[in-house]
Amino acid sequence: MNKNTNHANDSMGYTRRNFIKTSGAVVAGLGLSSTVRSAEAESLALNGGQKAVTFPANKFAAMTRWPRYGAAEKKRLHDMIDKNSFYDELPAFEKEWKEYTNAAFVKAHMNGSSALTSMYFALDLPAGSEVLVPSYTFFSACLAMRFSGLVPVFVDIDPKTACFDLEDAKRKLTPQTKAVEGMHSWGLPCEMDLICDWAKEKGLVPLEDCAHAHGASMKGKKMGTWGQMSIFSFQASKVMPTVEGGMGMYQTREYFERAAAFGHYEDPAKFPKDSPVRAYEGTGFGQKYRMHPFAAAVARQQLQELDTHNTIVEKNARALNDRLTQLDCVTEPRCRPDQKRVYYSGNMLFIDFKKLGVSRDLIVKALKAEGVRVSFWDYPSQHKLKIYSEAKWWHHPPKIPESMPGIDYVNANHIFLPCLYEEAPELIAQYIKAFEKVWANRAKLA
Ligand SMILES: Cc1ncc(COP(=O)(O)O)c(C=O)c1O
Repeated sequence: MNKNTNHANDSMGYTRRNFIKTSGAVVAGLGLSSTVRSAEAESLALNGGQKAVTFPANKFAAMTRWPRYGAAEKKRLHDMIDKNSFYDELPAFEKEWKEYTNAAFVKAHMNGSSALTSMYFALDLPAGSEVLVPSYTFFSACLAMRFSGLVPVFVDIDPKTACFDLEDAKRKLTPQTKAVEGMHSWGLPCEMDLICDWAKEKGLVPLEDCAHAHGASMKGKKMGTWGQMSIFSFQASKVMPTVEGGMGMYQTREYFERAAAFGHYEDPAKFPKDSPVRAYEGTGFGQKYRMHPFAAAVARQQLQELDTHNTIVEKNARALNDRLTQLDCVTEPRCRPDQKRVYYSGNMLFIDFKKLGVSRDLIVKALKAEGVRVSFWDYPSQHKLKIYSEAKWWHHPPKIPESMPGIDYVNANHIFLPCLYEEAPELIAQYIKAFEKVWANRAKLA
């Protein structure tokens, strides 16, 4: 669905607003419908008017609580403790995750970062090889490369998606580039089909960081099965949380065996006799990255609920975004019709504040006064952090880009609304009302 969605049949019984996008209209007063004028007539809560959001705080806290564990998770943990048997949970979870994603090979790890370190080791590339990676990411996606002598090459994001910008990657290709890693920011699949095609053309290994995208897919294929290798995180904030936990997915037996042997000293003994890593039985390659069995038990339950959970969050985001994106200068990250996104951490909206003519601080202040839980958060650009500027940590120093206009735009022009994990028509209607009121009064704010 997109902005053109017909809201005439919307189930919230909320009168359709005629907020026609007046892309050039900077301030209120230009072409406003009578409905907008009535929203304008209601004074802002910031100026002493009535709050648009009166939804009870305790109900709001319940529907946004994360992670969400209940009787089923407790039972699984209690059963495990009662049985006093733990490790069977790991292959059981791996089997279920493999079936769910349709991956060729999977390995549970203690977190997403250890899955990343194992993945880079599995690449088995000469020291100094470069990996194209978005700078808009979590530190371990870049820093875990160090342990295998790899060097990150920072790529910008597309301001329309907040995901990997393939055109920028093309400009940064060097003779040392050997792999390219997409990341699905906030649950939106990056265009792995285009990335894989380009990787094939240039002889690069495509990789995926799916820490934000449990259950997301593209062209009917789960994210994590596009790249030759991929990782997931099950950390507490994630779409499928086990408090800590991770998973690696591998398209070939070679990648799987190397990645598994890196942090799982018992695994080589299970590999076929012709495996080149079988001889490392009892040591692996130096780390111990086993996932905690308690986390695996919780993961098995969370996996059962993953699709239902994603459906509810998406339904709520659609009901809200289909209306909010009718407002001037408000868009959502572009999702192709063949992509099925999920929502991690929040519902990100882009607002072109310059075009709107009001600062983000003022808009956020006014929305907060109306009772909207709204925030913004700048992903720390990796290329700006100290460790990348010091040659001593790297085979050769990572190139620090002078500018990343995509990241700058996204960081300066987004807001996050909460993910709603239960049916929420009343709250959504009130949030829409709050936004419409603030937008109708934005000239006064400015
Ligand atoms: C994009 C991304 N990659 C990797 C990770 C690492 O996962 P973990 O925290 O489980 O080590 C995270 C965690 O936040 C992340 O956001």
